[in-house]
Amino acid sequence: MPLRVNEKEFKLLRDFVEKECGVLLGDEKAYLIENRLSKLATENGCRSFGEFYMRLSKSPRTDKLRERVVDAITTHETLWLRDGHPFKILHDRILPEYQEAIQNREQNGIRIWSAACATGQEPYSIAMTALDYYRKIGLAENVCSGQINILATDVSAGILSAAEAGRYDAHAITRGLPAAHLDRYFRKRDNQWMIDDQVKRMVTFRQFNLKDPVAGIMGPFDIIFLRNVVIYFSEAFKKTLFARVAGLLNSGGYLFLGAGETVGGYSEAYDLLEHEGTIFYRIKS
Ligand SMILES: C[S@@+](CC[C@H](N)C(=O)[O-])C[C@H]1O[C@@H](n2cnc3c(N)ncnc32)[C@H](O)[C@@H]1O
Repeated sequence: MPLRVNEKEFKLLRDFVEKECGVLLGDEKAYLIENRLSKLATENGCRSFGEFYMRLSKSPRTDKLRERVVDAITTHETLWLRDGHPFKILHDRILPEYQEAIQNREQNGIRIWSAACATGQEPYSIAMTALDYYRKIGLAENVCSGQINILATDVSAGILSAAEAGRYDAHAITRGLPAAHLDRYFRKRDNQWMIDDQVKRMVTFRQFNLKDPVAGIMGPFDIIFLRNVVIYFSEAFKKTLFARVAGLLNSGGYLFLGAGETVGGYSEAYDLLEHEGTIFYRIKS
């Protein structure tokens, strides 16, 4: 039986979660606290969410329990090549543009950040798209030699270790992945699919909380994927985050958001671009 949360406890825990990771729980989300935190609370000897909040608020910032609350509350839903179009734009338009700059010696390589990478499908999809493109133009060895660097971060340590393992079960592997990609970039072992080493080597995983100052992560980047995460944040935090992200993009750099997300009303730092009906953004020069 899950513990029941009363109004006061809900407000305390909601504020705690927002402070920890930016995720805003609307009033209708009390069930999330009950469903996702009851086990953690009782495992930690708490008989109510009030006691659990007291335990959390007294814990040091580095306490693993805080991390476990964030892991439990955040939604890690993801797919291979999610929404299709951003990866098509990357393949057909952005990578060719950067490749031309590389050939003209205006730039050395391409740095990409997948800023809320969940179980790795997004950064690995970026890597596979880049490999497909470089194969097509006969320069696959450029990718192997480190020309494309993908930094993949997420607040959730548990999720990151799954991403880093690059091992997927029968359910996860089918979600959005075309058969040709499965053949080309995975090998099957014990009913699990392992991502190819060549793809894996292109991605570096690191734990990073988007609430934290960006000085803690490596930048700047040419392309940032910040997809299906800002939707969970407050209006005020979206503004702060879009401004920080703008500061991390190289001149001419691109930003991709999730299908239901926009910078409109939050930041003036980006130009809106459209490609075959899909919206994406470019930092204003
Ligand atoms: C719904 S998934 C989106 C995954 C992927 N970007 C996609 O579009 O498929 C949202 C991810 O954001 C992460 N997240 C939530 N709050 C975060 C924060 N403050 N900092 C970094 N990652 C966060 C969650 O852990 C989760 O893995």
